[in-house]
Amino acid sequence: MRRNHTKGVGCLGTFTATDEARTLSRSKLFTGKEIPVVARFSIAGGDPEVPDADRSPRGLACEFRLGDGSLHHMTMLNTPMFFAKVPQTFIDKFAALAIDPATGKANPALLRAFIASRTETHNQVAFLNANNPPRSYTSEAYFGIHTFFLRDRSNRLTKFKYYFRPRDGVDRLSSEEMASAPQDFLEKAMAERMERGPVLWDLIFIIGEPDDEELDPTVLWPDDRREVFAGTLKLESWTHSAEAGSYRINFDPLMLSEGVEPSRDPVLLFRSPSYAISHGRRLQGV
Ligand code: HEM
Repeated sequence: MRRNHTKGVGCLGTFTATDEARTLSRSKLFTGKEIPVVARFSIAGGDPEVPDADRSPRGLACEFRLGDGSLHHMTMLNTPMFFAKVPQTFIDKFAALAIDPATGKANPALLRAFIASRTETHNQVAFLNANNPPRSYTSEAYFGIHTFFLRDRSNRLTKFKYYFRPRDGVDRLSSEEMASAPQDFLEKAMAERMERGPVLWDLIFIIGEPDDEELDPTVLWPDDRREVFAGTLKLESWTHSAEAGSYRINFDPLMLSEGVEPSRDPVLLFRSPSYAISHGRRLQGV
């Protein structure tokens, strides 16, 4: 199983870019043709039996299959920011979440002490406390979080972040519903929604200004930045995680097509090798 985001569901669909996205980037992702997508929704953390109402981030990972056999990945969370500005903070959080052999559970005091001692985690913690988890994976927005660059046909670079905005609107559980929610409800919600037809998200680029932070994914840009409608994701079918085509995919966020480039954000750069190790162990069955 995945070492992180272990519980999830797989989906299939397509992505179609707008003319404005094609103007900003020469990537094959933005030609405007319909591109097949293999997607996976998930709950953060390494527990395959985590309750679906858990107050932790939800994930959306997409593999875009470009016509020439090449791939483009986007691996996102439902929080606009991350909790770690350097990889060490990620490692320290997992140490704070380690299972105590005496109780069989993580020690909440260790997690509280970790959060209190790292102010960089506070933006995401505040977001997760203020926004309950979604009622369905389909009623949520998903954010790329890191800074990337678009390269156009004249080699002009545009600094950007991105998110997927749900056409169904954002719909989250109330605190009462969280307390009484069954262990598993997200697959049922997905099945019921898909029966009513395809689910759509609009891809939005947030265009950065020269001084906007590029290296720290815990920091948001000012909220008056220009937004560009860049395309539409349409998901049309779903499958249990282990049976889905997405099960064997390594959704490496640095798998980018020519025309989209990463920033030097140390957290983004650290993700690629750690996902590769997790993927390799999953394929080996260890
Ligand atoms: C240092 C920071 C991070 C580390 C070490 C890390 C580590 C991992 C690992 C090991 C996996 C399992 C990969 C696999 O087995 O295929 C994973 C999955 C995932 N991560 Fe991260 N992660 C980090 C940051 C992030 C950030 C910033 C985001 C969102 C912007 C994110 C979103 C996801 C998602 C959505 C998945 C599930 C992908 C899938 O469905 O296969 N992670 N992460």
